[in-house]
Amino acid sequence: MSGLAARFRALWDELAPVGRDERSGGYLRYALTGPELRLREWFRGQADRRAMPVTEDGNGNLFAWWGEPEAGGAVLTGSHFDSVPHGGAYDGPLGIVSAFLAVDELRAAGVAPARPVAVGAFVEEEGARFGVPCLGSRLLAGEIAVDRAAGLRDADGVSFAEALGARPAGARPELVGRFVAFVELHVEQGRALVEADAPVAVASAIWPHGRWRFEFTGEGNHAGTTRMSDRRDPMLTYAFTVLAANKEARLRGAHATVGRVAVEPNATNAIPSRVTGWLDARAAEPETLTGLVDAVRAKAAERARRDGTEVALTEESATPLVAFDGGLAGRLAALLDAPVLPTGAGHDAGVLAAHVPTAMLFVRNPTGVSHSPAESASDDDCAAGVTALARVLKELTCR
Ligand code: GLV
Ligand code: MN
Ligand code: MN
Ligand code: MN
Repeated sequence: MSGLAARFRALWDELAPVGRDERSGGYLRYALTGPELRLREWFRGQADRRAMPVTEDGNGNLFAWWGEPEAGGAVLTGSHFDSVPHGGAYDGPLGIVSAFLAVDELRAAGVAPARPVAVGAFVEEEGARFGVPCLGSRLLAGEIAVDRAAGLRDADGVSFAEALGARPAGARPELVGRFVAFVELHVEQGRALVEADAPVAVASAIWPHGRWRFEFTGEGNHAGTTRMSDRRDPMLTYAFTVLAANKEARLRGAHATVGRVAVEPNATNAIPSRVTGWLDARAAEPETLTGLVDAVRAKAAERARRDGTEVALTEESATPLVAFDGGLAGRLAALLDAPVLPTGAGHDAGVLAAHVPTAMLFVRNPTGVSHSPAESASDDDCAAGVTALARVLKELTCR
Protein backbone atom coordinates (compact mmCIF):
# COMPACT_ATOMS: atom_id res chain seq x y z
CA MET A 1 0.00 0.00 0.00
CA SER A 2 1.37 3.43 -0.91
CA GLY A 3 1.92 6.07 1.77
CA LEU A 4 -1.00 8.04 0.39
CA ALA A 5 -3.27 4.98 0.42
CA ALA A 6 -2.32 4.44 4.07
CA ARG A 7 -3.05 8.09 4.88
CA PHE A 8 -6.39 7.72 3.11
CA ARG A 9 -7.22 4.62 5.15
CA ALA A 10 -6.28 6.30 8.43
CA LEU A 11 -8.58 9.25 7.77
CA TRP A 12 -11.31 7.04 6.33
CA ASP A 13 -11.33 4.86 9.45
CA GLU A 14 -12.21 7.94 11.54
CA LEU A 15 -15.53 8.17 9.69
CA ALA A 16 -16.29 4.49 9.31
CA PRO A 17 -18.27 3.92 12.54
CA VAL A 18 -20.35 7.10 12.29
CA GLY A 19 -23.95 6.26 11.46
CA ARG A 20 -23.28 2.65 10.46
CA ASP A 21 -26.14 0.24 11.02
CA GLU A 22 -24.74 -2.98 12.47
CA ARG A 23 -27.41 -5.15 10.90
CA SER A 24 -27.16 -4.01 7.28
CA GLY A 25 -23.61 -2.63 7.33
CA GLY A 26 -25.03 0.42 5.56
CA TYR A 27 -25.19 4.02 6.74
CA LEU A 28 -28.04 6.05 8.21
CA ARG A 29 -26.53 9.50 7.89
CA TYR A 30 -29.54 11.71 7.39
CA ALA A 31 -28.95 15.43 7.05
CA LEU A 32 -28.76 17.32 10.36
CA THR A 33 -29.37 14.22 12.49
CA GLY A 34 -26.89 12.86 15.07
CA PRO A 35 -24.50 10.99 12.72
CA GLU A 36 -24.38 13.73 10.11
CA LEU A 37 -23.89 16.37 12.81
CA ARG A 38 -20.95 14.30 14.11
CA LEU A 39 -19.47 14.25 10.61
CA ARG A 40 -19.87 18.01 10.41
CA GLU A 41 -17.99 18.28 13.70
CA TRP A 42 -15.32 16.01 12.22
CA PHE A 43 -15.17 18.40 9.23
CA ARG A 44 -14.55 21.35 11.56
CA GLY A 45 -11.87 19.35 13.37
CA GLN A 46 -10.11 18.50 10.11
CA ALA A 47 -10.26 22.12 8.99
CA ASP A 48 -8.90 23.22 12.36
CA ARG A 49 -6.05 20.75 12.15
CA ARG A 50 -5.10 22.33 8.84
CA ALA A 51 -5.65 25.94 10.00
CA MET A 52 -8.47 26.31 7.46
CA PRO A 53 -11.17 28.71 8.71
CA VAL A 54 -14.72 27.38 8.34
CA THR A 55 -17.63 29.49 7.09
CA GLU A 56 -21.33 28.59 6.82
CA ASP A 57 -23.67 29.89 4.16
CA GLY A 58 -26.87 30.01 6.20
CA ASN A 59 -28.28 27.06 4.23
CA GLY A 60 -26.51 24.27 6.09
CA ASN A 61 -23.49 24.10 3.77
CA LEU A 62 -19.97 24.33 5.25
CA PHE A 63 -16.77 25.61 3.64
CA ALA A 64 -13.19 25.24 4.92
CA TRP A 65 -10.78 27.68 3.34
CA TRP A 66 -7.14 27.34 2.38
CA GLY A 67 -6.55 30.99 1.66
CA GLU A 68 -8.62 34.08 2.34
CA PRO A 69 -12.40 33.38 2.19
CA GLU A 70 -13.15 36.92 1.05
CA ALA A 71 -10.47 36.98 -1.64
CA GLY A 72 -12.60 35.67 -4.51
CA GLY A 73 -11.41 33.62 -7.47
CA ALA A 74 -11.51 30.47 -5.33
CA VAL A 75 -11.62 26.86 -6.48
CA LEU A 76 -14.23 24.80 -4.62
CA THR A 77 -14.02 21.06 -4.09
CA GLY A 78 -16.04 18.75 -1.83
CA SER A 79 -19.25 16.75 -1.68
CA HIS A 80 -21.76 15.68 1.00
CA PHE A 81 -21.93 13.59 4.19
CA ASP A 82 -25.57 12.46 4.13
CA SER A 83 -26.60 9.02 2.88
CA VAL A 84 -29.64 7.25 1.52
CA PRO A 85 -31.20 4.75 3.99
CA HIS A 86 -28.61 2.00 4.50
CA GLY A 87 -26.37 3.62 1.90
CA GLY A 88 -22.71 3.00 1.15
CA ALA A 89 -19.71 4.57 2.83
CA TYR A 90 -18.27 6.32 -0.21
CA ASP A 91 -21.16 8.21 -1.81
CA GLY A 92 -20.44 11.73 -0.59
CA PRO A 93 -17.79 11.42 2.14
CA LEU A 94 -15.17 10.25 -0.38
CA GLY A 95 -15.26 13.69 -2.01
CA ILE A 96 -14.72 15.48 1.31
CA VAL A 97 -11.99 13.21 2.65
CA SER A 98 -10.22 13.34 -0.74
CA ALA A 99 -10.44 17.14 -0.72
CA PHE A 100 -8.66 17.45 2.65
CA LEU A 101 -6.03 14.91 1.55
CA ALA A 102 -5.48 16.73 -1.75
CA VAL A 103 -4.82 19.92 0.22
CA ASP A 104 -2.31 17.96 2.33
CA GLU A 105 -0.59 16.65 -0.82
CA LEU A 106 -0.26 20.11 -2.30
CA ARG A 107 1.05 21.59 0.92
CA ALA A 108 3.55 18.74 1.36
CA ALA A 109 4.77 19.40 -2.18
CA GLY A 110 5.26 23.08 -1.33
CA VAL A 111 2.59 24.23 -3.78
CA ALA A 112 1.53 27.82 -3.11
CA PRO A 113 -1.77 28.39 -4.93
CA ALA A 114 -2.43 31.77 -6.44
CA ARG A 115 -6.12 31.44 -5.49
CA PRO A 116 -7.98 30.14 -2.45
CA VAL A 117 -9.15 26.54 -2.28
CA ALA A 118 -12.40 25.83 -0.43
CA VAL A 119 -13.45 22.38 0.79
CA GLY A 120 -17.26 22.20 0.84
CA ALA A 121 -19.74 19.92 2.60
CA PHE A 122 -23.26 20.27 1.19
CA VAL A 123 -26.35 19.44 3.23
CA GLU A 124 -29.14 17.01 2.23
CA GLU A 125 -27.68 15.93 -1.11
CA GLU A 126 -29.63 12.67 -1.19
CA GLY A 127 -32.97 14.15 -0.24
CA ALA A 128 -33.37 11.13 2.05
CA ARG A 129 -34.70 13.22 4.93
CA PHE A 130 -36.63 16.10 3.34
CA GLY A 131 -37.44 14.64 -0.08
CA VAL A 132 -35.64 17.10 -2.37
CA PRO A 133 -32.12 16.06 -3.43
CA CYS A 134 -29.28 18.61 -3.50
CA LEU A 135 -31.29 20.85 -1.18
CA GLY A 136 -28.23 22.69 0.18
CA SER A 137 -26.73 23.46 -3.22
CA ARG A 138 -30.15 24.38 -4.66
CA LEU A 139 -30.63 26.89 -1.85
CA LEU A 140 -27.14 28.36 -2.24
CA ALA A 141 -27.63 28.71 -6.00
CA GLY A 142 -31.17 30.10 -5.67
CA GLU A 143 -32.66 27.08 -7.45
CA ILE A 144 -35.39 26.48 -4.88
CA ALA A 145 -37.66 28.99 -3.14
CA VAL A 146 -36.67 29.56 0.48
CA ASP A 147 -40.26 29.13 1.68
CA ARG A 148 -40.58 25.78 -0.03
CA ALA A 149 -37.24 24.53 1.31
CA ALA A 150 -37.91 25.82 4.82
CA GLY A 151 -41.28 24.03 4.91
CA LEU A 152 -40.13 20.61 3.66
CA ARG A 153 -40.82 18.07 6.38
CA ASP A 154 -39.20 14.78 7.33
CA ALA A 155 -41.10 11.62 8.27
CA ASP A 156 -41.51 12.90 11.86
CA GLY A 157 -42.94 16.23 10.75
CA VAL A 158 -39.78 18.22 11.52
CA SER A 159 -39.27 20.99 8.97
CA PHE A 160 -35.96 21.76 7.29
CA ALA A 161 -35.97 25.20 8.95
CA GLU A 162 -36.46 23.57 12.36
CA ALA A 163 -33.66 21.08 11.72
CA LEU A 164 -31.39 23.90 10.57
CA GLY A 165 -32.38 26.03 13.56
CA ALA A 166 -33.20 28.98 11.30
CA ARG A 167 -34.94 29.98 8.11
CA PRO A 168 -32.49 29.14 5.30
CA ALA A 169 -30.62 32.11 3.83
CA GLY A 170 -31.36 31.10 0.23
CA ALA A 171 -29.41 32.36 -2.78
CA ARG A 172 -25.96 33.72 -1.95
CA PRO A 173 -24.80 35.11 -5.31
CA GLU A 174 -21.88 36.94 -3.72
CA LEU A 175 -20.60 33.64 -2.28
CA VAL A 176 -21.22 31.64 -5.48
CA GLY A 177 -19.50 34.47 -7.36
CA ARG A 178 -16.34 33.88 -5.35
CA PHE A 179 -15.85 30.51 -7.02
CA VAL A 180 -14.16 30.27 -10.40
CA ALA A 181 -14.52 26.49 -10.49
CA PHE A 182 -16.08 23.57 -8.58
CA VAL A 183 -14.67 20.06 -8.79
CA GLU A 184 -16.58 17.28 -7.03
CA LEU A 185 -14.85 13.93 -6.66
CA HIS A 186 -17.28 11.02 -6.27
CA VAL A 187 -17.25 7.24 -6.19
CA GLU A 188 -18.44 5.90 -9.53
CA GLN A 189 -21.98 4.51 -9.39
CA GLY A 190 -21.60 2.10 -12.27
CA ARG A 191 -18.99 -0.15 -13.86
CA ALA A 192 -17.67 2.00 -16.69
CA LEU A 193 -14.26 2.41 -15.06
CA VAL A 194 -13.94 -1.33 -14.48
CA GLU A 195 -14.63 -1.82 -18.16
CA ALA A 196 -12.21 0.98 -19.13
CA ASP A 197 -9.57 -0.45 -16.74
CA ALA A 198 -8.91 3.03 -15.33
CA PRO A 199 -9.02 4.27 -11.71
CA VAL A 200 -10.39 7.76 -12.40
CA ALA A 201 -12.73 9.38 -14.94
CA VAL A 202 -13.99 12.87 -15.72
CA ALA A 203 -17.76 13.46 -16.04
CA SER A 204 -19.32 14.79 -19.21
CA ALA A 205 -23.00 15.06 -18.23
CA ILE A 206 -25.75 14.13 -15.79
CA TRP A 207 -28.95 12.65 -17.16
CA PRO A 208 -32.08 14.71 -16.53
CA HIS A 209 -34.03 13.12 -13.70
CA GLY A 210 -36.73 13.65 -11.12
CA ARG A 211 -39.00 12.27 -8.43
CA TRP A 212 -42.76 11.89 -8.73
CA ARG A 213 -45.18 10.91 -5.96
CA PHE A 214 -48.12 8.70 -7.02
CA GLU A 215 -51.01 8.59 -4.58
CA PHE A 216 -53.46 5.78 -5.24
CA THR A 217 -56.67 5.89 -3.24
CA GLY A 218 -59.44 3.35 -2.99
CA GLU A 219 -61.62 1.92 -0.27
CA GLY A 220 -60.19 0.32 2.86
CA ASN A 221 -62.17 -2.78 3.71
CA HIS A 222 -62.12 -6.25 5.25
CA ALA A 223 -59.83 -8.77 3.53
CA GLY A 224 -62.05 -11.73 4.46
CA THR A 225 -65.54 -10.48 3.77
CA THR A 226 -65.26 -8.12 0.80
CA ARG A 227 -66.10 -9.87 -2.45
CA MET A 228 -63.35 -9.63 -5.05
CA SER A 229 -65.78 -7.94 -7.44
CA ASP A 230 -66.66 -5.26 -4.85
CA ARG A 231 -63.15 -4.11 -4.12
CA ARG A 232 -61.55 -0.75 -4.95
CA ASP A 233 -58.01 -1.78 -4.13
CA PRO A 234 -55.30 0.86 -4.74
CA MET A 235 -52.60 -1.77 -4.29
CA LEU A 236 -53.58 -3.21 -7.66
CA THR A 237 -53.27 0.15 -9.40
CA TYR A 238 -49.96 0.72 -7.66
CA ALA A 239 -48.59 -2.71 -8.64
CA PHE A 240 -49.64 -2.26 -12.25
CA THR A 241 -48.03 1.18 -12.32
CA VAL A 242 -44.70 -0.19 -11.06
CA LEU A 243 -44.70 -2.77 -13.85
CA ALA A 244 -45.71 -0.15 -16.41
CA ALA A 245 -42.85 2.15 -15.31
CA ASN A 246 -40.36 -0.67 -15.70
CA LYS A 247 -41.67 -1.59 -19.15
CA GLU A 248 -41.86 1.99 -20.43
CA ALA A 249 -38.31 2.69 -19.21
CA ARG A 250 -36.96 -0.43 -20.92
CA LEU A 251 -38.69 0.48 -24.17
CA ARG A 252 -36.98 3.89 -24.12
CA GLY A 253 -33.52 2.95 -22.84
CA ALA A 254 -34.33 5.01 -19.74
CA HIS A 255 -34.33 4.19 -16.01
CA ALA A 256 -37.40 4.00 -13.76
CA THR A 257 -37.44 2.90 -10.13
CA VAL A 258 -40.06 2.69 -7.42
CA GLY A 259 -37.90 2.26 -4.32
CA ARG A 260 -40.22 3.67 -1.71
CA VAL A 261 -43.81 2.88 -0.90
CA ALA A 262 -46.21 3.65 1.95
CA VAL A 263 -49.38 1.66 2.53
CA GLU A 264 -52.34 2.72 4.66
CA PRO A 265 -53.41 1.21 6.94
CA ASN A 266 -50.68 -1.37 6.22
CA ALA A 267 -52.46 -4.35 7.72
CA THR A 268 -52.31 -7.90 6.39
CA ASN A 269 -56.06 -8.38 6.73
CA ALA A 270 -57.22 -5.03 5.35
CA ILE A 271 -57.58 -3.89 1.76
CA PRO A 272 -55.53 -0.68 1.69
CA SER A 273 -57.26 2.67 1.49
CA ARG A 274 -54.21 4.41 0.10
CA VAL A 275 -50.87 3.46 -1.43
CA THR A 276 -48.21 6.08 -2.10
CA GLY A 277 -45.32 5.15 -4.37
CA TRP A 278 -42.39 7.35 -5.33
CA LEU A 279 -41.13 7.08 -8.91
CA ASP A 280 -37.52 7.99 -9.68
CA ALA A 281 -37.11 8.39 -13.44
CA ARG A 282 -34.04 9.28 -15.50
CA ALA A 283 -33.07 9.34 -19.17
CA ALA A 284 -30.26 10.60 -21.37
CA GLU A 285 -32.47 13.18 -23.10
CA PRO A 286 -35.19 15.41 -21.57
CA GLU A 287 -37.79 14.39 -24.21
CA THR A 288 -37.29 10.74 -23.35
CA LEU A 289 -37.80 11.47 -19.67
CA THR A 290 -40.95 13.51 -20.32
CA GLY A 291 -42.29 10.79 -22.62
CA LEU A 292 -41.61 8.13 -20.00
CA VAL A 293 -43.36 9.96 -17.16
CA ASP A 294 -46.31 10.90 -19.40
CA ALA A 295 -46.70 7.26 -20.45
CA VAL A 296 -46.60 6.00 -16.86
CA ARG A 297 -49.12 8.65 -15.80
CA ALA A 298 -51.48 7.68 -18.62
CA LYS A 299 -51.21 3.96 -17.87
CA ALA A 300 -51.79 4.55 -14.14
CA ALA A 301 -54.88 6.64 -14.87
CA GLU A 302 -56.25 4.05 -17.28
CA ARG A 303 -55.71 1.27 -14.76
CA ALA A 304 -57.27 3.35 -11.96
CA ARG A 305 -60.47 3.59 -14.03
CA ARG A 306 -60.57 -0.19 -14.27
CA ASP A 307 -59.83 -0.66 -10.55
CA GLY A 308 -62.33 1.96 -9.37
CA THR A 309 -59.51 3.82 -7.68
CA GLU A 310 -58.06 7.30 -8.02
CA VAL A 311 -54.55 8.37 -8.79
CA ALA A 312 -52.87 11.75 -8.23
CA LEU A 313 -49.37 12.59 -9.40
CA THR A 314 -47.11 15.25 -7.86
CA GLU A 315 -43.65 16.19 -9.09
CA GLU A 316 -41.40 16.43 -6.02
CA SER A 317 -38.16 17.40 -7.72
CA ALA A 318 -36.78 17.82 -11.21
CA THR A 319 -33.21 18.16 -12.36
CA PRO A 320 -32.59 19.18 -15.97
CA LEU A 321 -29.89 17.72 -18.19
CA VAL A 322 -26.49 18.88 -16.98
CA ALA A 323 -23.74 19.18 -19.58
CA PHE A 324 -20.55 19.91 -17.66
CA ASP A 325 -18.24 22.61 -19.04
CA GLY A 326 -16.80 20.82 -22.08
CA GLY A 327 -13.61 22.84 -22.13
CA LEU A 328 -12.90 22.14 -18.48
CA ALA A 329 -13.75 18.42 -18.79
CA GLY A 330 -11.50 18.10 -21.84
CA ARG A 331 -8.67 19.91 -20.08
CA LEU A 332 -8.90 17.70 -17.00
CA ALA A 333 -9.23 14.50 -19.05
CA ALA A 334 -6.05 15.42 -20.94
CA LEU A 335 -4.24 16.35 -17.70
CA LEU A 336 -5.20 13.05 -16.06
CA ASP A 337 -5.26 10.91 -19.19
CA ALA A 338 -8.70 9.81 -17.99
CA PRO A 339 -11.84 8.65 -19.79
CA VAL A 340 -14.85 10.96 -19.96
CA LEU A 341 -18.30 9.57 -19.16
CA PRO A 342 -21.88 10.60 -18.39
CA THR A 343 -23.81 9.48 -15.31
CA GLY A 344 -27.40 8.91 -14.33
CA ALA A 345 -26.76 10.02 -10.74
CA GLY A 346 -27.51 13.49 -9.41
CA HIS A 347 -24.92 15.61 -7.60
CA ASP A 348 -24.46 19.07 -6.09
CA ALA A 349 -22.02 19.59 -8.96
CA GLY A 350 -25.00 19.31 -11.31
CA VAL A 351 -26.76 22.16 -9.52
CA LEU A 352 -23.73 24.44 -9.31
CA ALA A 353 -22.79 23.75 -12.95
CA ALA A 354 -25.38 26.31 -14.04
CA HIS A 355 -23.55 29.00 -12.04
CA VAL A 356 -19.86 28.04 -11.85
CA PRO A 357 -17.60 26.16 -14.33
CA THR A 358 -17.89 22.69 -12.83
CA ALA A 359 -16.27 19.31 -13.28
CA MET A 360 -16.53 15.92 -11.63
CA LEU A 361 -14.02 13.15 -11.08
CA PHE A 362 -15.21 9.57 -10.58
CA VAL A 363 -13.22 6.92 -8.71
CA ARG A 364 -13.54 3.29 -9.82
CA ASN A 365 -16.06 1.15 -7.96
CA PRO A 366 -15.23 -2.55 -8.52
CA THR A 367 -18.83 -3.79 -8.36
CA GLY A 368 -20.51 -0.64 -9.62
CA VAL A 369 -23.01 -0.99 -6.75
CA SER A 370 -24.07 2.22 -4.98
CA HIS A 371 -26.88 3.40 -2.68
CA SER A 372 -26.27 0.08 -0.96
CA PRO A 373 -23.97 -1.23 1.80
CA ALA A 374 -22.10 -3.14 -0.93
CA GLU A 375 -20.68 0.06 -2.43
CA SER A 376 -16.86 -0.07 -2.44
CA ALA A 377 -13.59 1.34 -3.73
CA SER A 378 -10.04 0.16 -3.07
CA ASP A 379 -7.66 2.26 -0.98
CA ASP A 380 -5.27 2.39 -3.94
CA ASP A 381 -7.99 3.76 -6.24
CA CYS A 382 -9.03 6.27 -3.59
CA ALA A 383 -5.36 7.36 -3.39
CA ALA A 384 -5.35 7.68 -7.19
CA GLY A 385 -8.43 9.88 -6.82
CA VAL A 386 -6.67 12.11 -4.29
CA THR A 387 -3.64 12.40 -6.57
CA ALA A 388 -5.90 13.30 -9.51
CA LEU A 389 -7.78 15.87 -7.45
CA ALA A 390 -4.52 17.42 -6.20
CA ARG A 391 -3.30 17.71 -9.79
CA VAL A 392 -6.56 19.32 -10.83
CA LEU A 393 -6.48 21.80 -7.93
CA LYS A 394 -2.90 22.70 -8.79
CA GLU A 395 -3.84 23.15 -12.45
CA LEU A 396 -6.78 25.41 -11.55
CA THR A 397 -5.10 27.47 -8.82
CA CYS A 398 -1.52 27.93 -9.96
CA ARG A 399 -1.97 29.94 -13.11
C1 GLV B 1 -28.44 10.98 -5.72
O1 GLV B 1 -27.43 10.38 -5.41
C2 GLV B 1 -29.22 10.50 -6.81
O2 GLV B 1 -28.74 10.46 -7.95
O3 GLV B 1 -30.34 10.07 -6.55
MN1 MN C 1 -26.17 9.25 -3.73
MN1 MN D 1 -23.33 11.52 -3.77
MN1 MN E 1 -25.92 11.98 -5.65
